[in-house]
Amino acid sequence: MSDDRLDRKFDVEAIRQDFHILQQQLPNGLPVAFLDSAASAQKPHTVIAKECEAYEQYYANAYRGVYRFGARIDEELEATRNKVKRFINAQDEKEIIFTSGATMSINLVAAGWSRAHLCEGDEIVLNVMEHHANFVPWQQAAQETGSRCRFVPLTNDYQLDLSTLDTVITNQTRVVVVTAMSNVLGTINPVRQIAKRAHEVGAVIVVDAAQSAPHMVTDVLEDDIDFLAFSGHKVYGPSGVGVLYGKFDLLKTMEPLLTGGHMIERVSQQRSTWADPPAKFEAGTLPIAQAIALGTAIDYLDDLDLQAVDVHEKQLLTYAHQSLAKIPGMRLLSPPLSAKGPIVSFVLDGAHPEDLAQLLDRRGVFVRHGHHCTMPLHEHLGIAASLRVSFGLYNTFAEIDQLLEAINFAREKLRLT
Ligand code: ALA
Repeated sequence: MSDDRLDRKFDVEAIRQDFHILQQQLPNGLPVAFLDSAASAQKPHTVIAKECEAYEQYYANAYRGVYRFGARIDEELEATRNKVKRFINAQDEKEIIFTSGATMSINLVAAGWSRAHLCEGDEIVLNVMEHHANFVPWQQAAQETGSRCRFVPLTNDYQLDLSTLDTVITNQTRVVVVTAMSNVLGTINPVRQIAKRAHEVGAVIVVDAAQSAPHMVTDVLEDDIDFLAFSGHKVYGPSGVGVLYGKFDLLKTMEPLLTGGHMIERVSQQRSTWADPPAKFEAGTLPIAQAIALGTAIDYLDDLDLQAVDVHEKQLLTYAHQSLAKIPGMRLLSPPLSAKGPIVSFVLDGAHPEDLAQLLDRRGVFVRHGHHCTMPLHEHLGIAASLRVSFGLYNTFAEIDQLLEAINFAREKLRLT
């Protein structure tokens, strides 16, 4: 599909009608410019309605009742599992595990796969742009198993230094951990190339797709990904639900992190055996209504077409990036535009990110400040905190103008002009 056609198809003003929360006017008469979708995206009303529908029309626990509501709930959940399978191009529904979010998904692998496969002397390959959720669980796994973490260095232009892959990923490597898109830099990492190198040495690859999943096509089959995690709330779905994908044969070799109801095959007085995946990793009661509404969020993205979303968001990103770069004292923490998703983080000379975020809020602009759960990255960059602007499919050029005006307002208040 040509970019022209995608442009015509994508009507952001019509899309915004689906997000009632964005239609508010603030007490000072300004519209809301929500530029924090990387932290959590807003939900279209169909997603909210679907969650209500489940509670109001057929709610019951899942995988337990043969009565009408129980059967309907199971049907709806399995429909979502199937949609997730298609969304990431997995081969089998059994490879899709519902979790409470990307953090839980990664913890499941870091604990469950490591217990079964890591030994003293083994190496885990990380890098400093990972979110703590894809960093700390691996440090813990290293400590518990006597393995050690090695790091793919970053280039000066905020990308992974791929020239080091062959020396950092070696025969000692058992697992390579990488984000598909950095939550701070926006850097899109070449997961297919990294997977190829990991597989050459017999290691597995674990991909954090929390930031990439709402913006670009995920294809675990083409990229040959072993494990992949994402959250419902960042793909315009409910909070409290996430997904772990794992190749079925690998999932079978993993130990469960949580044990209890639903995940067993047989329980006797002295020992228990486990059900096959995905049940093996779905102990207890699932986030049922949330998982069902996640299916509606995936429908929403499918209807809009992720390629069209990507084109729209790239236009926003380019405009924001180029405009922000012109502001005196601005340091953009950013790879080249061609290598990134719709996230722009920066530090502004003389302005503490928290003060700046508070001043932007006064002009109706909502952004995130702090270390964004990436302390090793901020340490590497020699800063304590930054300010992050991130876009979703509902953002507009007018909101970027509102951001630029708000930064001018802040610079005046902070006497930076
Ligand atoms: N992971 C989310 C963020 O980057 C919370 O803001």
